[in-house]
Amino acid sequence: MEHIYPIFDKMLSRADKESLLKQRGLMIWFTGLSGSGKSTIAIALERELQNRGLLCRILDGDNIRSGINNNLGFSEEDRVENIRRIAEVGKLFVDTGIITIAAFISPNNRLREMAANIIGKNDFVEVYVSTPLEECERRDVKGLYAKARRGEIKNFTGISAPFEEPAHPDLSLDTSKLSLEESVMELLDLIIPRVTLSMEKY
Ligand code: ADX
Repeated sequence: MEHIYPIFDKMLSRADKESLLKQRGLMIWFTGLSGSGKSTIAIALERELQNRGLLCRILDGDNIRSGINNNLGFSEEDRVENIRRIAEVGKLFVDTGIITIAAFISPNNRLREMAANIIGKNDFVEVYVSTPLEECERRDVKGLYAKARRGEIKNFTGISAPFEEPAHPDLSLDTSKLSLEESVMELLDLIIPRVTLSMEKY
């Protein structure tokens, strides 16, 4: 862009931040239907990582949509812009050495690919919370499925808007089969080796 001069070369590097924090930055990207358990797992994971002395930050659908993305709805176009902004913000956290946990429906491969490309594929772990639609609808924690069935919410993912399953997620967690503790253990096994700094970096 003209007349824009990024100053990144003068700032401390990601490696500086990571050696300060004694961890590596990483994006854990949850995808799945509304009510599948993304936020619940994200919160439980954050606690376990914090207990191990690791700094995390959760970015969550309902929070982001009431703040930075409060001008966006659920059209295809707005969902792209929602995920684009989240990925850009997420990249700032990851580049600060922070383990960043994103919990958004992100309903198709194109959106998830865009996020992975913005953040960088090496820093991106895709976790599919694969709880079946029938179970999400049975739980209906926010009462939104009932509203969507009555036609009171348009473009509702899984009812009147599509959800495309991820082709090759790094991990799938079906919360109708796994306990919360089991899901978190699987995540920790995947994440801990990837956020641990090797000793020669100290
Ligand atoms: S995404 O599709 O753009 O990734 P995001 O995760 O940010 O969605 O927001 C999803 C949350 O918004 C849902 O959990 C639900 O609470 C709420 N919501 C409101 N309207 C819709 C809709 N039409 N489709 C899906 N979720 C909706």
